[in-house]
Amino acid sequence: MKRIYGALLCLAFAITVSKCQSACEREGVVCGSVDHAAVDTATLAPSQSKRRWSAPDKCLSDTNFAHLEDLWPKMHFRGPISGPKSYFHRVPPHYLGRHANFTRCRRRVYIDVGAGQFNSQGSSEGFLSMMKLYPSLVEFDEFYVFEAVPGKYVLPPPRERKRVLKNAGMRASRAATFNRRHFFMQAFVGARSDTSTVPPTIGFSDFLLTMLQLQPADAVVVKMDVEGYEYEVVDTLLRDGTAELIDEIMLEVHYSHPDMLRAFRWCKTPQFWCKYSLDNATSLYTSLRGSGVYAHTWP
Ligand SMILES: *[C@@H]1O[C@H](CO)[C@@H](O)[C@H](O)[C@H]1NC(C)=O
Ligand SMILES: *[C@@H]1O[C@H](CO)[C@@H](O)[C@H](O)[C@H]1NC(C)=O
Repeated sequence: MKRIYGALLCLAFAITVSKCQSACEREGVVCGSVDHAAVDTATLAPSQSKRRWSAPDKCLSDTNFAHLEDLWPKMHFRGPISGPKSYFHRVPPHYLGRHANFTRCRRRVYIDVGAGQFNSQGSSEGFLSMMKLYPSLVEFDEFYVFEAVPGKYVLPPPRERKRVLKNAGMRASRAATFNRRHFFMQAFVGARSDTSTVPPTIGFSDFLLTMLQLQPADAVVVKMDVEGYEYEVVDTLLRDGTAELIDEIMLEVHYSHPDMLRAFRWCKTPQFWCKYSLDNATSLYTSLRGSGVYAHTWP
């Protein structure tokens, strides 16, 4: 558990707030419940292609800030495609940065694993989209980005970079120093480091503990899409206690289910992660939440 780091920020969505959350204080937060009963009868809304990605301008009237958002396994952690109950209206109000003041944390570190592109021009994937969706990230000190596909993640030249960062809400003075606070690695992320893969695999626990030397007094926000390796990464984080260093994670989960086969053709071509079930996916999130990590689905 992290220690208390001063003032709480309960601004934009504060009307219904009785108890706020701080990056370094987790008291009073009850994690969202899991709808186990509905798991096996799950269905997914048709036509995933009609997704629209945008930051929420308004919360659902029944949003309860003393709880993390519900996980919605019956909707395969995705919910409707658009409208007030879609991911970007339902989940971002619960992002820790919307309620907590990270200012007094020792270091503020954002780690984007499987970032895709830097600027994905309006699509959900990509570093810049996350800055827009999660406004307090633009105030973070350090940015670590992993993408295994060569040439996919490319920083624009300085002028363009400053322009798009400012567009995403970053102050000019911080945009000017972004380049030396941003670290890109073309690598896989897994449970353990392994130099025999191409590109090499960086063990996530190693990375947090040994390479970054993070401490509980640091604010650590992670977005992770590791194509099925999330189970062993999370298992390792929980076993070795490194999960304690992570304040919040936005995590994409992969598993086999007929609905996902229909919607995304998942497991039509067999992948190693097709051995995982919706129940496994659900426990992935609940085990993190049970250990005090603000775990959200993604996207
Ligand atoms: C966050 O905390 C810092 C340091 O205590 C304080 O100066 C700042 O005003 C706080 N921000 C908000 C929005 O409360
Ligand atoms: C997935 O679920 C099955 C059945 O509940 C269980 O035996 C298995 O250990 C789970 N795997 C993981 C990685 O949690």
